Amino acid sequence: MTSTSNQAPTGGRAAHPEHLGRVIFIAASAAMGGFLFGYDSAVINGAVEAIRDRYGIGSATLAQVIAIALIGCAIGAATAGRIADRIGRIRCMRIASVLFAVSALGSALPFALWDLAIWRIVGGFAIGMASVIGPAYIAEVAPAAYRGRLGSFQQAAIVTGIAVSQLVNWGILDLAGGKQRGVIGGLEAWQWMLGVMVVPAVVYGLLSFAIPESPRYLISIAEYSRAKEVLAEVEGHEVDLDQRVLEIEYAVRSEHRSTFRDLRGGRFGLLPIVWVGIGLSVFQQLVGINVVFYYSATLWQSVGIDPSASFLYSFTSSIINIIGTVIAMLLVDRIGRKPLALIGSTGMALALALEAWAFNAELVNGRLPHTNGLVALIAAHVFVLFFALSWGVIVWVLLGEMFPNRIRAAALGVAASAQWVANWAITASFPSLADWNLSGTYVIYTAFAVLSIPFVLFCVRETKGKALEEMG
Ligand code: GLC
Repeated sequence: MTSTSNQAPTGGRAAHPEHLGRVIFIAASAAMGGFLFGYDSAVINGAVEAIRDRYGIGSATLAQVIAIALIGCAIGAATAGRIADRIGRIRCMRIASVLFAVSALGSALPFALWDLAIWRIVGGFAIGMASVIGPAYIAEVAPAAYRGRLGSFQQAAIVTGIAVSQLVNWGILDLAGGKQRGVIGGLEAWQWMLGVMVVPAVVYGLLSFAIPESPRYLISIAEYSRAKEVLAEVEGHEVDLDQRVLEIEYAVRSEHRSTFRDLRGGRFGLLPIVWVGIGLSVFQQLVGINVVFYYSATLWQSVGIDPSASFLYSFTSSIINIIGTVIAMLLVDRIGRKPLALIGSTGMALALALEAWAFNAELVNGRLPHTNGLVALIAAHVFVLFFALSWGVIVWVLLGEMFPNRIRAAALGVAASAQWVANWAITASFPSLADWNLSGTYVIYTAFAVLSIPFVLFCVRETKGKALEEMG
């Protein structure tokens, strides 16, 4: 990979404060895709029982209708990188916003189960695209000194999307008299839940008109004067813009082209850096974070906590998730990505081990003994806190910034796609694993949290404060 060692170091260059507001607006607008990602992946929780009832389907079919969206996510993530390299990051956001809107309306007004499944795949495709475009674009527009914090907007938006979907579902359910199939204005509650997503989808599309194309993409298609305008907008006029364009152009031209073929290499089929991205993605999922967000009701009810309280615990975990994310945003550019990831892995491993212990008790009248129930609840919240202040944010920040310019979009697509497959594997296997042994399931998640420690220590490189042109 290229280096800028013969040029002035770019890593510490900070945006002029007067530009910072604009940069924050740009990053926040792009992160709207993350909001939709969180919203869409969590909203289905509130609608599952109604879908089961309306279409008279069993758990296995229902699980497929839910999990099928994750396959759409994997395909969307895998293709988004190529689309973004061909037509640009902004147009890619617009496509995702249209797909989100279409899928919201289609899922809310399905003719039958088959087209509901298709709309969920379409929505999944959009989530997959958003999961790639957000981090890549933000890393490409952000000045190095703030890149970690701005990159964490993506995760902040995801966790806000999850929390808002829970609140909206709760509000709709309340209006419908507590019934998922209760009717409001001619439509059933679950249809409103899925349909409301059209609003953030349209906002996302509109915001894409208010933000500039990525300067790295513009340079890659030889649009130098537009690239300079954007660099001036985000880094300030005080920066030597010609020099910046040269640095980026030099890096872009001397790197590989961004196609899947160019990700190949090394002893194990793909470039080592791509494997590291895949590893980060997969470990992020294998600790079982989405069991908390997709299955909390099942989890808590299976140990005897009643349904209304389990809704409350889903929401408290979302709030803890937001608090942890804010802590990470404050720390990521100060203490760096690796130390945060290591703190997170250690905390998660301890909390998961406690959960495994707590679940390892005989149920009395279908409930865990009081102490075990309490320990399980507290440990689950501590687990979410450690995840949120580390792997939740770090993985999306690193995936956005760790790859050389030329392979960024394609490599990020592959890594994000692996993440969706891992997410699917955990989500699809949890019900049967929980039937087998809930405590044993948590021993497995604990083992993955422990294994993530040597992975970070030996495979991940610190990227704090470095310019994107110094990666590789
Ligand atoms: C990360 C994960 C996502 C998870 C979320 C929870 O964004 O990628 O799968 O739902 O964190 O906060």
